[in-house]
Amino acid sequence: MKSTVLSGIRATGKLHLGNYLGAVKGMLELQDKDDFQTYYMVADLHTVTTPYEKTTLRGSIRNIIIDYLSAGLDPQKSTLFIQSMVHEHIELSYYFSTVTTVAKMQHVTTFKDKVKQHPEHVTMALLNYPVLMSADILLYKASLVPVGIDQEPHLEIAREVARRMNQEYGTSFPEPRRFATKGEYVPSLSGEGKMSKSVEGSYINLTDSHEEITKKIRSIPTATVAGGELTGGLRSLFSFAELFLPDQVENYRNAFQKGTLKFVELKDAVADAIYHDLESIQEKHRAVEQNISFVDDVIADGAQRARLIASKTLQEVKEKMGMPL
Ligand code: ADP
Ligand code: TRP
Repeated sequence: MKSTVLSGIRATGKLHLGNYLGAVKGMLELQDKDDFQTYYMVADLHTVTTPYEKTTLRGSIRNIIIDYLSAGLDPQKSTLFIQSMVHEHIELSYYFSTVTTVAKMQHVTTFKDKVKQHPEHVTMALLNYPVLMSADILLYKASLVPVGIDQEPHLEIAREVARRMNQEYGTSFPEPRRFATKGEYVPSLSGEGKMSKSVEGSYINLTDSHEEITKKIRSIPTATVAGGELTGGLRSLFSFAELFLPDQVENYRNAFQKGTLKFVELKDAVADAIYHDLESIQEKHRAVEQNISFVDDVIADGAQRARLIASKTLQEVKEKMGMPL
């Protein structure tokens, strides 16, 4: 029996290097192994849990599918779909909310962060975010979830929901684990916190040109601190070197310790290596973007394939819960 994998990304903007290294690379790795059945979605229902732009949402959702295809996700190997097109996600999340306490949800760290970010927008949908994410995963009985380390609190909730459902109703949900990649935490260009769409100046987009990447990497603050400590921007720069120049990073580190490192040389080498990795994705992006009917087909076909599994799980849950079928 193949194990099942599910992951998703919200449609909140263009994908950046953090999304690519922390999530998409893991999705690619698992798609290409024979013993996994892979489901990758656009989490548009999660997108609307925080303020968003109505007029551009549909385009942003489609762009994530285009980004997935450009990065190498293959509809022949993976089911690529849009979450809201498979209604069972919402329905299962409702049933899951019957085994989830409000107090537990109010303590989730990501919820508390969002409350701070949008104090005037603390909705039921936001509180329910981890329950819906549990439904996304468990609807396909996925046991492995390729996401960045920041999603760990949500996976903990998914495991708890699975346990509770199994105890209360005798279902047989697996307890899903995170599939970690080398880039599970990509730091911000500013040197503070993680690279994130919502922090201007923190990220490199997958569609950035060579010049843009060079400019952004050169702007990483690398003023040295006494004692040769790797902190702030310097630490970010060395993290990028580790990820993109794994064979040379030791030499750069030694040069830094000896005080002979020319920062601009390291920065330009890192920028070149990043661009080198992104070049083929960008080429594919230009081709996929033009092929409107192919993208339409992927979306329609993905929803159909996802519904097949989703409806079966939902029926099982309703049956076990004593609901009319
Ligand atoms: P953002 O924080 O930029 O809005 P999302 O929350 O949409 O990104 O995350 C989408 C996926 O990318 C998730 O799996 C998340 O863990 C991963 N991810 C986001 N930022 C990073 C990062 N800086 N490093 C590693 N993975 C990340
Ligand atoms: N919460 C995830 C993020 O912010 C997106 C997401 C929604 C997801 N449902 C999921 C990720 C299910 C993995 C599995 O990136």
